[in-house]
Amino acid sequence: MSDPTRCPVVHFDHHSAEHADDPVASYRALRQSHKRGWTEAHGGYWVLSDYQSVFDAARDDDLFSSTREAADTDGLAIVIPPTPMYHHIPIEVDPPEFRKYRKIVNQITAPSAVKRMEEMVERYTTAFVDSVIEKGECDFTTIIGVPAIVTIDWLGLPVEDWNRYAGAHRATLADPQDSPEFRHAVEVELPALSEQMWQTIRDRRAEPRDDVISFLVAQEIDGRPITDEEVFAIVDLLVSGGTGTTASLVSQALVWLARNTEVRRELIDDPGLLDRAVEEFLRVFSPTQALARTVTRDVDFHGCPMKAGDRVLLSWASANRDEEQFDAPDTIDIRRWPNRHVAFGIGVHRCAGSHLGRLMAKRLLQEILTRMPDYTIDFAALERFPDQGTNVGFRRIPARFTPGGRVLAESEAVIG
Ligand code: HEM
Repeated sequence: MSDPTRCPVVHFDHHSAEHADDPVASYRALRQSHKRGWTEAHGGYWVLSDYQSVFDAARDDDLFSSTREAADTDGLAIVIPPTPMYHHIPIEVDPPEFRKYRKIVNQITAPSAVKRMEEMVERYTTAFVDSVIEKGECDFTTIIGVPAIVTIDWLGLPVEDWNRYAGAHRATLADPQDSPEFRHAVEVELPALSEQMWQTIRDRRAEPRDDVISFLVAQEIDGRPITDEEVFAIVDLLVSGGTGTTASLVSQALVWLARNTEVRRELIDDPGLLDRAVEEFLRVFSPTQALARTVTRDVDFHGCPMKAGDRVLLSWASANRDEEQFDAPDTIDIRRWPNRHVAFGIGVHRCAGSHLGRLMAKRLLQEILTRMPDYTIDFAALERFPDQGTNVGFRRIPARFTPGGRVLAESEAVIG
């Protein structure tokens, strides 16, 4: 039975097969019928699909909480339904407490810190393309492992396990909760990898190195040393945020550029266009499609009678295609400017990794476009992740290109 006090009621489930078939069309239909509505899926939640209400909700962290306490859940509070995952800091913390942690994270993700990572990003990007360039064919999803290996190396976790971290976090957000992949990730991989993370945190306390975990264990909160639990909660979020998102952005851009070869040619001829192109790819592909909040008091929000405890889905992807905010929103214009997309979210929780994400996406696209300029994709064999509710992307992107020569003498050693 639908709840008559929550109106309008919409037929919508961002985890359904119907939605996964075409998320853009699914959100367009929602914007055209009810920009804001209540769905009975997953125990019931409000869904915000227009730019203005997404913007207003994300900026009001007093009314829309990101915490597990408000959501009354043991799972990750910022997704619907909450997925089993360790508590994440600072994404599941509200102000004022939030600021103490975000201040620390900002120091390792600020533009100046990301500048120091350029050499590492460069080395991995070259090595990954090297690893397939002589063959003339590959699955593009292997090359776009770059963001994952960079994140794992930067944090100070064992680099040889980068693919296990990426796979387990991807499965928890992109595989259906009743699938074997999801269960294996939650029951086997994540516990094993968590043990490795706890151990690394203890090791760095004993013997610091030049990595993020060593930096984090040396921090203070309110004048006391940060705890291992707090460090773990930050590191686990950085793994989750750093591994899949940029890969999704680059893979979707590559698939689109395979069909739009005249735009690909423009980017090859003038790499200076990549800055704005990446912003446009962020807008139209929105790697993180939608995240959740919990209402903290009864309120009428943009005409919706919300009650304390109600769950709310903020669709960054739908806001990014709102015709009231963007001219010709479904046209991909690599020169579009200004481009006030919300692919990185908005408000206090706006993505801490945006500078790193942009750097990795640009570098990867440039390397592939330069060294595999004539690549083609076997569209018939292209495979999407089954669930497109939170993280969109591809499981398999078979590609062919004219073989070329390696740049590094020992690229396998770099990748591990
Ligand atoms: C294209 C790449 C990326 C996209 C589209 C993306 C998207 C997002 C979005 C939408 C949020 C907002 C969460 C919210 O409002 O609840 C967010 C937060 C966050 N992201 Fe990213 N992200 C990307 C790359 C990265 C990278 C590379 C890292 C780190 C290595 C990262 C770390 C984080 C962190 C730590 C937060 C939480 C910030 C906070 O709560 O203060 N992200 N991201």
